[in-house]
Amino acid sequence: MTFVQLSDKQTLRDRARQHVENGAVTESYSADREVVINLLNEALATELVCWLRYKRHYYMASGVKASLAADEFLEHANEEQEHADRLAERIVQLGGEPDFNPDTLVERSHAQYAEGNGLRDMIFENLVSERIAIDSYREIVQFIGDKDPTTRRIFEDILAQEEEHADDMAGLLDGLN
Ligand SMILES: [Fe+2]
Ligand SMILES: [Fe+2]
Repeated sequence: MTFVQLSDKQTLRDRARQHVENGAVTESYSADREVVINLLNEALATELVCWLRYKRHYYMASGVKASLAADEFLEHANEEQEHADRLAERIVQLGGEPDFNPDTLVERSHAQYAEGNGLRDMIFENLVSERIAIDSYREIVQFIGDKDPTTRRIFEDILAQEEEHADDMAGLLDGLN
């Protein structure tokens, strides 16, 4: 199971990297802005998928042992929604359109929507998704550099919170052992 997860993650990461590489060769400002809007929209899709996954897990986590996890899932769901809002707001500020199209959401997201089979599996899937988000946002921060400090700050803030999320999931996973 771990191998399948890792190879999927690699595919998603490679796809995220493509946009960054395309962006690096553009010269005009408007082209740069378009790339930044694309990156913001990919991140928006990621946040929406993470929000949906955490909501599902929140409602599916049952039993005494699961109540601590359920609280974390709900807290994370709410924070992913806030992240989505910040990204959408920034897209509009840059003259773009936030893409909320559910038909293409999963394709555009870096992270996956995994239903999870039982509590341990749910926590594991969330941890994998957080790690994908961390890697992809870190790359985006590096790519943006000094070109757009406002967008970079948004990604830095979100990145810090995803690191907390990953830490929370790792802690829950440890607690099950
Ligand atoms: Fe998030
Ligand atoms: Fe997160």
